[in-house]
Amino acid sequence: MIERIEKNVRAEIARFDRGEHPVDFPPLPEIPAGRYVDPDFFALEQQNIWSKSWLFAGHVDELPGKGDFKLWRDAGSPIVIIRDQSGEIKGFFNTCRHRGGPLVREDHGTTKSLLCKYHCWNFDLDGRLLYVPDEHEFPGLDKSAHGLIPVKIALWGNWIFANLDPDAGPLEEFLGPLRQEMDDLGPDRLRLVEKHSFDIACNWKVAVDAFQEVYHLKHIHPATVNAALDHRGASMTLYSGGHSRMIVPHRDGSAARLSEKSDGTVRTSAPEHRITSSTSRAYNIFPNVVTPTAEFEWPSLIFWPTSIGTCRMDVWWWGQSDDCDPTTELWQTRLANFDTILGEDMENLGWVQESMETPGFTGVPLSYQERRIYNFHEAVDEMIGADLIPRNHAVPKLMKPFIET
Ligand code: FES
Ligand SMILES: [Fe+2]
Repeated sequence: MIERIEKNVRAEIARFDRGEHPVDFPPLPEIPAGRYVDPDFFALEQQNIWSKSWLFAGHVDELPGKGDFKLWRDAGSPIVIIRDQSGEIKGFFNTCRHRGGPLVREDHGTTKSLLCKYHCWNFDLDGRLLYVPDEHEFPGLDKSAHGLIPVKIALWGNWIFANLDPDAGPLEEFLGPLRQEMDDLGPDRLRLVEKHSFDIACNWKVAVDAFQEVYHLKHIHPATVNAALDHRGASMTLYSGGHSRMIVPHRDGSAARLSEKSDGTVRTSAPEHRITSSTSRAYNIFPNVVTPTAEFEWPSLIFWPTSIGTCRMDVWWWGQSDDCDPTTELWQTRLANFDTILGEDMENLGWVQESMETPGFTGVPLSYQERRIYNFHEAVDEMIGADLIPRNHAVPKLMKPFIET
């Protein structure tokens, strides 16, 4: 795969410099404007994407001990994600089976049981209903049928994913080839270093689109990303389900970059990581994870709609256990530098959304360099279901011949 990617990068640069469009790649129909601004389309997404997809829900370092929990609201419903007595991570709707009281009211905490404060029904960490005050006043109440309603939880290494659909297939199936392909990044070694968030004044898809191409580097990031990456060599791989990969070569050629540590020493990149260390290797995990990667330290961006015209971007930083204190000077610089780049994107995106909400915006013509965006939008339609998508907002299926399985 490494050799194939390196060959693709060279071929893309050569083709670009000849000024040729790839002969077998079709011109893409415009992405309809309404997908970004129509409240009906937004409602379809709410009902069909966030309630059916496997969604990034956090990292095991947030729940190190038995009984540690977090209240996770990003998918719309309040869900308690908790480490049970056996050490396994479970998810439940934060909804008591009596009259709907919440089990937990804090964003993070530790508890021995899930106790509803309304009338004191008490559930164990596996969701079983243990105790009902004045139980004799509920004749025939079957406690075993009134456990908490579970939410599916699965791990990719140390990342926690959740799915609100009780009929959802396994996470491995959802991630497809990504699951295996990203395994060399050592997902079970990744430690959570830091997390912070930004509110962005645009539709969540405007933000996700912006992180799927490098066509904008010269114009939005002239002194930062553009100085480091050569957009001509962008080699993109489309996967089914809207996932994708993008490899962009460093301008300084293939020399492996060293990773500095807070104690002043440096890590040397392993030869089998020569792609990861000599290019920008990034993934999109449908629907809302955008992640550059690196051999040792890297950030992931997770986008959540907060309204039709606004979203929140969570920036999660991963590192290795021997250097994951975010207060060190090196980490502070690393975080600040990346936020500077994100600031360049965010400043632009607010303006884009404002323009999109006018009659001056009629649709998005995409180039070959923006084909990951098209693949992502096809998956949005697939998730919502072809019969529900209004005809004038649909994205015709075209990427199938270009998808790697
Ligand atoms: S609502 Fe939870 S005990 Fe009554
Ligand atoms: Fe950007």
